[in-house]
Amino acid sequence: FFAGPCDFLKGVVALDGLPDADRPEVCFAGRSNVGKSSLINALTGRKGIARASNTPGRTQEINYFALGARGYLVDLPGYGFAEAPIAKVERWQALLRAYLAGRVTLARAFVLIDARHGIKKVDHEIMELLDRSAVSFQCVLTKADKPRGGGLGHVIESVRTDLARHPAAYPEIIVTSSETGDGIPLLRSAIARLMPE
Ligand code: GTP
Ligand code: MG
Repeated sequence: FFAGPCDFLKGVVALDGLPDADRPEVCFAGRSNVGKSSLINALTGRKGIARASNTPGRTQEINYFALGARGYLVDLPGYGFAEAPIAKVERWQALLRAYLAGRVTLARAFVLIDARHGIKKVDHEIMELLDRSAVSFQCVLTKADKPRGGGLGHVIESVRTDLARHPAAYPEIIVTSSETGDGIPLLRSAIARLMPE
C-alpha cells in the first residue's frame, strides 16, 4: 500500500482551501519539532517529500499527500513554540484547531509525543479539543532512538496513564523512530486499516 504512489497534493492556508472531503485522511499533530514531517518521510520511504528541519515552526501550512486515490496523509504545522512571526503563528494555530475539530473525513489524528519528554500541557489541550470534537486519536512516540536507560519505559507508562483521561484516545501507543525505522511498519498498517480499498 505504501509502496504505491504518494504525491504532494497541496499546502493549505485557509479552511476553504481544503481538498474535497471525498476520501479518508489521517493527520500528524504535535508540538513543533516533534518529528511530524520526518515521520511522513519515513512512512512513505521518500526522504524530503515532507520538509523537515531543526528549526521549530518549519511546517507552516496544512500539507496534503495523496496515497493514490485511497486517502490522504496530512502534515500539520506544530503547536507550541515556533521560530516565526507571531501573527503568522497565530493564524496557523487557529487553522490547525479548526481543521482538527471540523474535518469530517479525518479518520484518525495521530498525536506525536517526543519519547524523551512525554505529554506536555499543550498536548493535553489538543487532546481535549479532540475529545470535545469526538475525533478518535492515537499517540505515537517519536525519536525512540534518543532515550537512554529506562527512560523510554517510564515515558510509555506515563503516557498510558495520561491517555486514560481522554475518552477519544485509542489505547494502543505506537513507538517509532524515523531514524532507525522502528515502529514504522506498525504505523503503516494502522493507517492502511483506516483506508479501505
Ligand atoms: P515543525 O514542522 O517545525 O512543527 O516540526 P516537525 O514536527 O515536522 O519536525 P521535523 O520532522 O521537521 O523534525 C525536527 C527535527 O527532529 C529534525 O532535525 C529531525 O531530523 C529530527 N528528528 C525527527 N524524527 C527523528 C527521530 O526519529 N530520531 C531522531 N534522532 N531525530 C529525529
Ligand atoms: Mg514539520
